[in-house]
Amino acid sequence: MTSLEGKTALVSGAADGLGEAIAARLAADGARVVVLDRSPDAIERSSARPEMANVHFEQVDLSNAEEIASVVHRLHDAGFGFDILVNNAGGSLHTPRAFVEETDEDWARVMDLNVTAAVRLIRATVPGMVERRHGRIVNLGSKAGRYGSLFTGANYVAAKGAVQSMTLQLAQEFGPHGITCNAVCPGAILTPRVERLLSERQSPEERAAVLASIPVRRHGRVEDVAAAVAFFASDETGFITGQLLDVNGGQGMAS
Ligand SMILES: NC(=O)c1ccc[n+]([C@@H]2O[C@H](COP(=O)([O-])OP(=O)(O)OC[C@H]3O[C@@H](n4cnc5c(N)ncnc54)[C@H](O)[C@@H]3O)[C@@H](O)[C@H]2O)c1
Repeated sequence: MTSLEGKTALVSGAADGLGEAIAARLAADGARVVVLDRSPDAIERSSARPEMANVHFEQVDLSNAEEIASVVHRLHDAGFGFDILVNNAGGSLHTPRAFVEETDEDWARVMDLNVTAAVRLIRATVPGMVERRHGRIVNLGSKAGRYGSLFTGANYVAAKGAVQSMTLQLAQEFGPHGITCNAVCPGAILTPRVERLLSERQSPEERAAVLASIPVRRHGRVEDVAAAVAFFASDETGFITGQLLDVNGGQGMAS
C-alpha cells in the first residue's frame, strides 16, 4: 500500500468501472478523492458503497467544455487543489469496429471523451500543481492504443494512441515543475459492460483463443488497474515519468 495521506485526487468518469476502483483505491491509500461522472444513477449507486464513503462526487458531462470549466471552478472555490489527476473517462462508446462503418460523429465523440476531456482537465488542474511544485497525472491508455484491438475500432485505437503520445510530451514539459505524467494501458478488464461487449463481438471459440494468448491465463480485474494507478500517483515514483505501463497479463509486450 502506498500512502497518499494529505493528497487530493481528481478521477474522471469514476462512478463505475475502472474509475470507481481507482477512486476507491486512492481513497483507501489516504487521499481525499473527487469523482466526476455524468450518470446520476451511477453516482447514486457508487456513493452508497462503504469504500466510497469519503469520496466527493460531482455530476458533469466531460464532453462539454463549459461543464468542465464550471466544475473545476466550483471545486477550486470549495478549497480543492489537486495533487493527482487521473484521466480515466473514455472508451469506444460502442461505435462500430469496422473502419468503413465509423462515421465522423463516431470519431468526434470518441476523440472528445478520450482526448479532449483529458486535455481540458489537465489544463484546468496543472497550474495548481505548478504552484505547489508537485503533481501526478495518470492517463488511461489501452492495449488497443499500443497494439491494436480485436474488438474495438480505429477511432478508439487512434484516440488512445493520442493520449499515450500526449503523455510523453507532457512528461517533458511538466517534469521541471515536479509533475510526472504516465499512462496505464490495460488489456480487457472484465467489467459487466466489457463482458457484454465481448459476448456480442466474439464467439466462445474466439474468447477461448484470446484467453489462451494471455500468459497469466485470465482477464484483468479492476483492482489490477487501480494498483498501477496508485503506483504512479505515489510520492515515491517521482523519478518515473513519460512511461506507458501495460496491465494486460502479458498479452502485449514490448522491449
Ligand atoms: N474496461 C476495459 O476493459 C478497458 C481496457 C482498456 C482501457 N480502458 C479505459 O479505461 C477507462 C475506463 O473504462 P471503463 O470500461 O471503466 O469505462 P465505462 O464505460 O464503464 O465508464 C465509466 C464511467 O464513465 C462515465 N462516463 C461516460 N461518459 C461520460 C461523460 N461524457 N462524462 C462523464 N462521465 C462519463 C460513466 O457514467 C461511467 O460511470 C477508459 O478510458 C477506457 O478506455 C478500459
